[in-house]
Amino acid sequence: TVTNSTNIFWQECQIGKLDRQKLLNQKGCVVWITGLSGSGKSTLACSLGRELHSRGKLSYVLDGDNLRHGINKDLGFKPEDRTENIRRTGEVAKLFADAGLICVASLISPYRRDRDACRAMLSDGNFIEERFYLLCEERDPKGLYKLARSGKIKGFTGIDDPYEPPLNCEIEIKQENGVCPTPTVMAGQKQLRRKTTT
Ligand code: PPS
Repeated sequence: TVTNSTNIFWQECQIGKLDRQKLLNQKGCVVWITGLSGSGKSTLACSLGRELHSRGKLSYVLDGDNLRHGINKDLGFKPEDRTENIRRTGEVAKLFADAGLICVASLISPYRRDRDACRAMLSDGNFIEERFYLLCEERDPKGLYKLARSGKIKGFTGIDDPYEPPLNCEIEIKQENGVCPTPTVMAGQKQLRRKTTT
């Protein structure tokens, strides 16, 4: 780990991740949902959270839009701001996973390098990258694509800012009839391509 601070020391506590996982009877991990604006990431993250809750599993959703109201409120959408946004969120997600929770992070996270850096923060098998695509510009749920096309928003992902899709993510979900699938529906879809299970 690279840090700018000097004279700092790592403090171990007696109770660790394994103890907390045992208490909660679950495995702490991060499900990282990436995709364009309007692709349905937040809807999916919330329904996944609801499904886990109904199965007695403790989870927490970190939503990009919401985090930008608080911990990431000082960041904009320049490439370096997006990178810092993803780094901070990755660190928070890692803490949640260490606390034993199933953390569902839902951010555009457009740059592959930034997502890979988050993956590298978590030990093997505890980072599940999920790409979600629905019709984005056609749906334009917030009217942002229209604003970006008319030049009122600059640097909009997918219009004049890049989106780098994952090359080898664990889960890929494609749209069906423009409707955001629920986790239960998704489980039965053949579009749900699970390459690895953890
Ligand atoms: S990123 O790229 O991961 O740092 O973005 P994120 O933190 O997920 O925030 C995405 C939401 O910000 C709104 N928004 C923009 N998105 C992309 N590009 C630009 N320029 C932009 N400006 C504002 C938009 O509501 C995104 O929400 P979602 O839920 O993805 O539609």
